[in-house]
Amino acid sequence: MVRISPSILSADFANLEAELKSISSADLIHVDVMDGHFVPNLTIGLPVVKRISEVTNVPLDVHLMIENPELWAAKYAQFAHSVTFHFEAAKDALATITSIKAAGAKAAMAIKPATSFEDFQHLCGDLDMLLVMTVEPGFGGQSLIEGALEKVTKARSFADDKGLSLSIQVDGGVTVGNIASIAKAGADTFVAGTAVFEAKDRNLRIEELRALAITL
Ligand code: DX5
Ligand code: ZN
Repeated sequence: MVRISPSILSADFANLEAELKSISSADLIHVDVMDGHFVPNLTIGLPVVKRISEVTNVPLDVHLMIENPELWAAKYAQFAHSVTFHFEAAKDALATITSIKAAGAKAAMAIKPATSFEDFQHLCGDLDMLLVMTVEPGFGGQSLIEGALEKVTKARSFADDKGLSLSIQVDGGVTVGNIASIAKAGADTFVAGTAVFEAKDRNLRIEELRALAITL
């Protein structure tokens, strides 16, 4: 199933409720939580994510770019459909996955462009979703790193061979021009910040992205 998850990192944070209404046809809303340590940028935390969850009916897809995710992931899971932590930040990835699931959300793990598939493949069986970063995490509006898509292909065939129901998400530099090839590589869930929020009619852009991802 193809899902489009607009990243509100590109939204107007002074008008978030209106911005959320403008993407009502999204499958998920991607919320980037950054701590200024794991990544150089700083965004929003738990109280803001809680309020966002109260003013939209679209399920939240929370992407934690923070150190010590094991201390926070379950707290975000109360307000989210899925919680994604970074493999590179986790002291105990399996315990973090378990804590997200126990709190009632889907458990997802993100990997930076330089992390290789062999480093984390043993965790794929425990995950609901894998997030392959196609930019260095921290900022919106960057260009997709083509080389990172190889991990999407590897993860897709690994999951299919093992019969795992693993969703694969791609985040960073997704555009109308490249979403079809990302889908071909094996992704089913697409984060799009700039590509959605730059559009005059964001719901129309979401439909356009979804249609391009479905047409294989
Ligand atoms: C980057 C964030 C992304 C970002 C994507 O660290 O994780 O979710 O908002 O923005 P675009 O789609 O503009 O690359
Ligand atoms: Zn993100």
